[in-house]
Amino acid sequence: MERVIVLTSGKGGVGKTTTTANLAMALARAGHKVVAIDADIGLRNLDVVLGLENRIVYSLVDVVDGACRLKQALVKDKRVENLFLLPAAQTRTKDAVRPDQMKALCDELRADFDFVLVDSPAGIEGGFQNAASGADEALVVTTPDMSAVRDADRIIGMLESLDKHPIRLIVNRLRPNMVREGNMLDVSDVLDILAIDLIGVVPEDDNVVTSTNKGEPLTLNSISPAARAFDNISRRLVGEEVPFLEVDDMTSGGFMARIRRALGLKG
Ligand SMILES: Nc1ncnc2c1ncn2[C@@H]1O[C@H](COP(=O)(O)OP(=O)(O)OP(=O)(O)O)[C@@H](O)[C@H]1O
Ligand SMILES: [Mg+2]
Repeated sequence: MERVIVLTSGKGGVGKTTTTANLAMALARAGHKVVAIDADIGLRNLDVVLGLENRIVYSLVDVVDGACRLKQALVKDKRVENLFLLPAAQTRTKDAVRPDQMKALCDELRADFDFVLVDSPAGIEGGFQNAASGADEALVVTTPDMSAVRDADRIIGMLESLDKHPIRLIVNRLRPNMVREGNMLDVSDVLDILAIDLIGVVPEDDNVVTSTNKGEPLTLNSISPAARAFDNISRRLVGEEVPFLEVDDMTSGGFMARIRRALGLKG
C-alpha cells in the first residue's frame, strides 16, 4: 500500500530535511520504492543532503507548470535502487504550487512508489499547507526545547484539522548528558506536552554534519548513533516492532523507564 507522508515541524532548523533524506535512503535500502519531494520551494536543500544537486534538470514547479513531465523531473539515485528525488525550484516562491496541484502530483506518484516523503518548509503558513495537502500521514520533527515543542504543538493542531492520520513524533538532537543534568527536556516531557505517538528519538550526532557536507545520508552506510536511530524509525514506519534501544544505549536506565512510562509500556 503506497503511503504519502509529510515531514513538518513548525520551527525551522530542527531536522526535517535531514530526517527526510535519511528515512528515504533507509526505506529504499530496505527494498521499498521511494520518492522524496522537496516542497521547500525557493530554498532547496534536500538535493544537497541527498548528494543529488548536480543532476537536477527540472523541478517540482516545472512539472506543475507543464514545462516537463513528472518522470523527466525525477532524479534517480545511483547508489541505491528505488530512490528518487523530486527537487524544489530555487527561483520561485512558496506559493508557486497550489494545494490542489500538490495533491494531484502526490496522487500521480502513488501509482509508481511505495513511499512518497514530502519535506516541508518551516512555518505554519502557505508553504506548509501546500506541502501537507497531498499527504495522508505526518511525521512531526522537534528538538527537545520549549520553542520547538510549542511550534510542534501548533503544527499538530493544524495537521489534525487537515485530517492527517497518523501523526507521529520524532525527537531529534537529544543530548542525553544534558537531559541527565536537567538542562534539557527529556522525551517523556515532550510527549506529555504533545500527546502524540513517538516513532523515534535521534541523538545529537556530529556525523550528521559530515554526512550533509558529503551529500551522503548516514543511512546509506553508517553505523553511527543517528544512523541507527533513523534506520529504526524507517522500520517502525513499515510496522516492525523495534525496541527503543537507541535511547537505552545513549542514556541511563532511569531515562528509559520514563520513556516506557510515557509510552504506556510496562517495565
Ligand atoms: N541529529 C543531529 N545531530 C547533529 N546535527 C543535526 C542533527 N539533525 C540535524 N542536524 C543539523 O541541523 C541543521 C538543520 O537541519 P535540517 O536542515 O535538516 O533542518 P530543517 O528542519 O530541514 O531546517 P529548515 O526548517 O530550514 O528546512 C543542519 O545543519 C543539520 O546538519
Ligand atoms: Mg529543511
